[in-house]
Amino acid sequence: MNANADFSKKIIAWQKSEGRHDLPWQNCFDPYRIWVSEIMLQQTQVSTVIPYFNRFMSVFPDIATLASSSLDAVLAHWSGLGYYSRARNLHLAAKEIMVAHGGYFPVSFELILGLPGIGRTTAAALSVFAYGAREAILDGNVKRVFARYFAIEGNLSGKREEKDLWPLAYSLLPSNEIAIYTQGLMDLGATCCKPRKPECMRCPLHLDCVAYRQGRAHEFPSKRLRKAIPEKQTVMLVLEHEGKLLFKRHPEKGLWGGLYVFPQAETIAEAENFVSTWLGMDTLVGRWLEPLMHTFTHFRLSILPWHIWVKDKVDPGRNEIWMTRSEALGAGLPVPVRKLVRQVIPD
Ligand code: ADE
Repeated sequence: MNANADFSKKIIAWQKSEGRHDLPWQNCFDPYRIWVSEIMLQQTQVSTVIPYFNRFMSVFPDIATLASSSLDAVLAHWSGLGYYSRARNLHLAAKEIMVAHGGYFPVSFELILGLPGIGRTTAAALSVFAYGAREAILDGNVKRVFARYFAIEGNLSGKREEKDLWPLAYSLLPSNEIAIYTQGLMDLGATCCKPRKPECMRCPLHLDCVAYRQGRAHEFPSKRLRKAIPEKQTVMLVLEHEGKLLFKRHPEKGLWGGLYVFPQAETIAEAENFVSTWLGMDTLVGRWLEPLMHTFTHFRLSILPWHIWVKDKVDPGRNEIWMTRSEALGAGLPVPVRKLVRQVIPD
């Protein structure tokens, strides 16, 4: 048997006995269900995704329901999962499917790849799980498995290196049982061939794994040189009036697009200016809460929350709204804002 066939054969046998079989998006061929799961799983772990996925499917059971719902409703059910462009693209793509594909999820790999928010690996996973197509996935987990098995040196997240890995990923595909193989690769990366402390003795590939044989599994993939991630600061004005808090809905494009966030200022001086001129209040009012740190992909945001009880309810401006605690917690809020709501108005 050639080496490539051996690789997939071992993964398939291992997936059947040791892999995951009862995840809520498994054992079905509904492309919509599989699509939602793959989008949620792009940057989030399985255990976090499961409750979000179940709630999402009960509220938006099919493409037509999702397409006809408001973006606010979709973001509210994504609230806390992060990477909100995923939810905005999911909503956009549902509308596109209604208009361009008659409400049916496309079958062609190229058409799937053309939908907003769907890259090669997501399109491949979807095509494999829903339609049994012969496509390869290449996400961070798979790159790590390959890097170790073949002892591939270098930074595998670069565009050029990735270009070379796709033919390898395709050459390793088995002739049959592609879905089990694909799930097996994902399961292997998540449970044995983990980024830190790989559990090689549980891995069906370890005897042929070059990195393992060299005693260097933990050295792969080579660390890319990380630039120090910059830190930004924002002041959040947590304005409270008779049990309600003032929120501003972010424009749909960009960071936290479409989510509700407290009014912000870049500096404390700007926030004070805002409080004295806009609210007509003394800047010694209220209390400063503990700063919160929120990490995005490219920077860390240090949030300085200033909690102020306002005497007269200011009229909400454009895209602003006063909400009670429960209204706010039912809306699309980023994680740190959700935390602040719970902190300033405890249950
Ligand atoms: N990560 C990405 N897709 C996945 C899936 N279908 N099952 C488990 N983990 C995944």
